[in-house]
Amino acid sequence: MTMAEPTVSLEIFRYQPDGGGTSTFQQYQVPYHEDWVVLDAINYIKDHLDGTLAYRWSCRMGVCGSCGMMINGIPKLSCATFLKEYYPHPIRVEPLANFPIERDLVIALDDFMKKLSRVQPWIVRTAEAPLGAGEYRQTPAELDQYKQFSMCLNCMLCYAACPMYGLKPLFLGPAAIALAHRYNLDSRDEGRASRQEVLDDEHGVWDCTLVGECTTVCPADVDPAAAIQQIKLSTALDWIKRALRPGGSA
Ligand code: FES
Repeated sequence: MTMAEPTVSLEIFRYQPDGGGTSTFQQYQVPYHEDWVVLDAINYIKDHLDGTLAYRWSCRMGVCGSCGMMINGIPKLSCATFLKEYYPHPIRVEPLANFPIERDLVIALDDFMKKLSRVQPWIVRTAEAPLGAGEYRQTPAELDQYKQFSMCLNCMLCYAACPMYGLKPLFLGPAAIALAHRYNLDSRDEGRASRQEVLDDEHGVWDCTLVGECTTVCPADVDPAAAIQQIKLSTALDWIKRALRPGGSA
């Protein structure tokens, strides 16, 4: 007699846009392996139990940022979350909170992509030096200024965790602000003034009430909450400098 293979129960959110707009949870029994992550279990369902399940993933190594899901209510990368963290209890898997759902576990990215491009997440130069002038060089200390904020995966877990983004969908949001900060801190960049128009507007950094969940769930230790507070501080200093200037006003 062989011992029954251990299994774990996954309750997966299902939504088909052409299914009358209703959603449901579907339960699947999946083999349990100590070294399996939640994404392995979902891939097992797709390959062996239900080929209609829709979800995103790519690298399976915590780099591409595409496999974010709500796992038992917490935004996580499914490729970096082990079944053993929950076994033998059931695991509930849902699409990332605060985003429109396209199908099953797939969310719409449009809002985030628009916000990202508004902060110009690239190096802005007022005038490019001629090619012959060589590279824009940096010291290790200059690199350290922004390196932490450059680790963002664009996984959007921070948006799913942010109660302010849930309440105010126009809020620019943690990842876009952290990436703006990353380029503002880069010694080669000259784009702070134009980014500031977006960061300091009514849906920029001031919509953040410092709940800090963005930093808690970030799988890359970017600390978007710190980026937002640092921008608030530099923006306040800008106001003070303008106000103190002879004839100036905030
Ligand atoms: S599949 Fe790339 S981060 Fe999970």
